[in-house]
Amino acid sequence: MNVSPEQAALIRLSDYRAPAWRVETVDLDFDLGIDATELSARLLLRRDRTQTQPLRLDGENLELLSIMLDGQALPATAYRYADRVLEIDDVRDGSVLETRVRLRPAVNTALEGLYLSGSREAGFLLTQCEAEGFRHITFFPDRPDVQSRYTVTLRADRERFPVLLAGGNPDGAGELDGDRHWARFVDPHPKPSYLFALVAGRLEKIVRDYVTADGRAVTLNIWAEADAIGRCDYAMDALERSMRWDEQTYGRNYDLDVFHVVATHDFNMGAMENKGLNIFNAKCLLADPDSTTDDEYRHVEAVVAHEYFHNWSGNRVTCRDWFQLSLKEGLTVFREQSFSADMNSAPLKRIEDVSLLRRAQFPEDAGPLAHPVRPAQYSEINNFYTATVYEKGSELVRMLAGRLGTDGFRRGMDLYFERNDGRAAALEDFLSSLGDANGIDLTPYLAWYAQAGTPRLKAHGQYDAARHEYTLTLAQHIQAGADHEPALPLPIPVKLALFARNGDMLPLHMDGQTSEQVNERVIVLTGAEQSFVFTGIPSAPVPSLLRGFSAPVILECDYTPDELALLLGHDADGFNRWEASQQLAARAYENLRDGAATDALQAWCESLAQLFNNSTIDDALLADLLTPPGEVELAEREKAVDPQHIHALRQSLLRRLAARLGAEALRRRYQALAADTNAALDAVSQARRRLKRRVLELLGLIDGPGTRLLAASQYDDAPGMTDRLAALAVLLRGNAPEAAPALLYFRERYADNALALDKWFAVQAQVPGDGALDRVLALENDPAFTLKNPNRVQALLGAFVRINPSGFHRLDGAGYRFLAERLVTLDALNPQLAARLATAFNGWQRLEPQRRAAARAAIAELAGHEGLSRNLTEIVDSVFIH
Ligand code: TRP
Ligand code: ZN
Repeated sequence: MNVSPEQAALIRLSDYRAPAWRVETVDLDFDLGIDATELSARLLLRRDRTQTQPLRLDGENLELLSIMLDGQALPATAYRYADRVLEIDDVRDGSVLETRVRLRPAVNTALEGLYLSGSREAGFLLTQCEAEGFRHITFFPDRPDVQSRYTVTLRADRERFPVLLAGGNPDGAGELDGDRHWARFVDPHPKPSYLFALVAGRLEKIVRDYVTADGRAVTLNIWAEADAIGRCDYAMDALERSMRWDEQTYGRNYDLDVFHVVATHDFNMGAMENKGLNIFNAKCLLADPDSTTDDEYRHVEAVVAHEYFHNWSGNRVTCRDWFQLSLKEGLTVFREQSFSADMNSAPLKRIEDVSLLRRAQFPEDAGPLAHPVRPAQYSEINNFYTATVYEKGSELVRMLAGRLGTDGFRRGMDLYFERNDGRAAALEDFLSSLGDANGIDLTPYLAWYAQAGTPRLKAHGQYDAARHEYTLTLAQHIQAGADHEPALPLPIPVKLALFARNGDMLPLHMDGQTSEQVNERVIVLTGAEQSFVFTGIPSAPVPSLLRGFSAPVILECDYTPDELALLLGHDADGFNRWEASQQLAARAYENLRDGAATDALQAWCESLAQLFNNSTIDDALLADLLTPPGEVELAEREKAVDPQHIHALRQSLLRRLAARLGAEALRRRYQALAADTNAALDAVSQARRRLKRRVLELLGLIDGPGTRLLAASQYDDAPGMTDRLAALAVLLRGNAPEAAPALLYFRERYADNALALDKWFAVQAQVPGDGALDRVLALENDPAFTLKNPNRVQALLGAFVRINPSGFHRLDGAGYRFLAERLVTLDALNPQLAARLATAFNGWQRLEPQRRAAARAAIAELAGHEGLSRNLTEIVDSVFIH
């Protein structure tokens, strides 16, 4: 392994020390240009009197032009700049440091720090600072517990950069000589450097006036390039809804006079919550019916809300250090999920979130990249913006919220914001606020933040007919961590109900309580194993456990197929109904795999046929019930994974279901759903499209020619992207002759719409089977393909390696070699993106022997490359060494 000592250096949570130096005020003065930007930074420094270290500032790849301390130019002997650190002698408390540096935004392909979005001629300049991008802009103690007041002045050519933006409130603007102009911004709220942002270029805006609940008039601006400004209205509506919701749900008001949101096509992640100046990946902001699917609309709404909610959970209360990342991310994802549930359907949202958790977080937590929600150490913090920190982090907040109840949680959140406003807090501060406000000790929940791995929850029920008692025994098991520390028992809240065999919910009496009629309650497993006794139960019940997914665990319960079918047919909790369908489908899958019993297969098909034919169930829920766990989830249950075999088995599972439903019934349902096709965004219309797609896919498995005709006309007549893309996918997977002309038409129609073109790449990269790699290789030659644009890379390479297991995992290992080769090229351009893509190697050790050997060889080759980034090195080493 070619890891330099510096690269191998680990940052540890246990090494945390308060900063020796703080910065009270920062004055930044930018002279903006695409090839060269020069900036002066003036820092008012404060020393922690209990510490004695010299001033050390972070700074990466900075061309230092001048340096002055307290008005005097510093001699070269008075400072040293090496190893990403600038060290300066003889600085005192209250000293003013002035540095001037030159940056080269046009050649910054890492999209971190100051960079150019789009072309040299038409593009604009912007910054990305989280987590450690600010040190690519100027010398600074670039850590979130240093909070400062910012004054930012931007100067630039007026014609090339007509719009100048930075976070905070506007504080003057004017003309300069030589057709140049300036603008100044003052942010009254002290903030960490990762929340700094600027934007400069030719942008258009839409504007809305907003008055906060506490009476502040705010101007909301959404900015985009001219060709995209017409697609910003939906985001503006979502922003306004988010602001109202945070006022009503958490009593949180916006706190500046302006709020800017900017769309860029060149962005490493979804969006960024910079104070007063949120910057969005265009994919998470732009929306119109012609180029945006229903799922993407909901995603835009969720991301707009997420970034807005950060203004309190992240900005007003920020993180002490990056180990506390989930303090802002887990909490903000939870707030975003609650908002989306309120705006849309709560059970559907829960299904969506739990599927994501199982698809992305469970595999992460089960493999070599597993880490606690609060990691103990890292080499490159960018590698820890993970499903564990975000999604599992949100599940932990949800458990706490469930423990406290709506009012108790609100009380706790109020206290959290009150105590920590303006501070850089730790997860302990969060738990103690929630606990103190309710007189409850929540410290046992800290164990959830400290341990990696998904706990397994074993449930066993026993009915005593003579005593009319039902005893539920719960036991938890979590594998020892990579550090071989034995796992501690976790508090696991289990929301449950008991069903009689006729589908009625039974009243739950525990501990002799008989007063109220409750038929749902939460029991909390706190030890390794505990039993809970329910009295007055007339006959052997079927338990509905972990309702609403009340804890992020893997439930192991010895249900019979009939019991699962009962829950699938009768559970009033929409989520648990879906959960029963998932469990039953997984068992049906095992029936097919093992070729022995078919009891689960039959129960699954029969239950779904009943629901399909004669129920009043919501179309969208029905669509989800008809969808078995995905290939990645199914692989989690296997010891020696053959992704192509899993794909084939899942296809035959679906074929069985389609055959049971029958071509005739499927066709009739399709026609009924297609009868009033439209592009409206209301829940009913979205649900119809969702079910229509599912029905068409099922029909495709048993009636190829008929489906082809339906798909072709759906493609031609589609009023919006949801129907169009669904039809295209069905044509492609069915290998229909209509697929090629449809692709051509799509390519031309959307030649100038990058986000739609991304879907064109992705839909092709996702076609299952051995042919996928050749298709991807051919698509790399399309003039629109580039490794420099993260969305394009995700659309083609990301879709192939992550969403298409049967394509990526070729037996000959060609998929692995392809990924390893591209990672080397990509790493030189954009290390964050390369590292993210490399996590596709996560599960390689569990592959069957032949594929495992091929994957191992490809990873070894990659690991042997000289000069890989710290980002990619950390991922490759973790995946490979363990
Ligand atoms: N804090 C952002 C969010 O979740 C995400 C983020 C972190 C990010 N690092 C980034 C976005 C780098 C873009 C680039 O809301
Ligand atoms: Zn976030």
